[in-house]
Amino acid sequence: MKSILFVCLGNICRSPMAEAIMQKLVNDAGLKKDFYIDSAGLISYHEGEGSDPRMKQHAYRHGYKLTHLSRPVRTTDFDTFDIILAMDDSNYDKLRRLAPTLDDEAKIFHMTDYCTQHVIDHVPDPYYGGAQGFENVIEILEDACQGLLDSLTKE
Ligand code: 4NP
Repeated sequence: MKSILFVCLGNICRSPMAEAIMQKLVNDAGLKKDFYIDSAGLISYHEGEGSDPRMKQHAYRHGYKLTHLSRPVRTTDFDTFDIILAMDDSNYDKLRRLAPTLDDEAKIFHMTDYCTQHVIDHVPDPYYGGAQGFENVIEILEDACQGLLDSLTKE
């Protein structure tokens, strides 16, 4: 069993989208029982809320249903999860500061490191932008999630 946590700032746009894409890839590959997938945010401002309606709408158009409720990252996540994916440098730096041990720090990676189709170093925050930003998030995350699944299944 591999456990994966996707992390962004608010846990209402990028990381729940990554969670849904990864879950679908895993399910479609017949690997549902081999993975535990979740997402969380670095702020608790949206705790308990569903994903941003704009992200939900774009997700739906691409065949994904976002059901996650926002929750903040907890220290215990570093025990629960094998791999923790940050959407941007700010997420990455904050996660490293939260990691209780050096072994826990070593679980944190940049999501875009797993892209094979895009040359990009972060998943841009779509929150204050327009529709294209949300489309862009899905396109980058589909690439990164496929790369992540490929790397985990050939281990
Ligand atoms: P996310 O997007 O980190 O991709 O979920 C954001 C959501 C909320 C805020 C910023 C970014 N906010 O400032 O409330």
